Amino acid sequence: MVERTLSIVKPDGVMRNLIGEVIGRLEGEGLKIVAMKMIHMNKAQAKGFYKVHEGKPFFESVTDFMSSGPCVVIILEGENVIARYREIMGATNYKDAAEGTIRRDFATDIEKNVVHGSDSLENADIEINYFFNALEIH
Ligand code: CMP
Repeated sequence: MVERTLSIVKPDGVMRNLIGEVIGRLEGEGLKIVAMKMIHMNKAQAKGFYKVHEGKPFFESVTDFMSSGPCVVIILEGENVIARYREIMGATNYKDAAEGTIRRDFATDIEKNVVHGSDSLENADIEINYFFNALEIH
């Protein structure tokens, strides 16, 4: 099934000049970029994005981090792209991430894990609509 998913190069990835590295890996694996832009969320916008994590112990910290600098938000499209991108990204905790994944290679802690990816079709749809309108998707 052709799906869309949301990828984010997080503020640590942007700050460390990893945008090209991440995009190179995505394209290298044959994932198609259909939308992309750089944004800088404020705290309220970061809280809105991570609403599903509200109340969790890391919520304040991750929303501070995600509003600390610019991010690159990307929509990927393709057959089974949600699972394929999650495989390329690696586990949330880089210590559990498989060899050769983005997080294993570049994350520095569980929060500063370089990239985000939607975890389901339903959340991909919500996350894509949070950042993009129809005219920005190609
Ligand atoms: P992400 O996949 O974007 O989803 C939620 C984010 O919260 C996660 O990546 C991390 O950046 C951050 N985070 C910090 N601590 C935790 C934790 N214990 N479990 C899950 N996510 C965490």
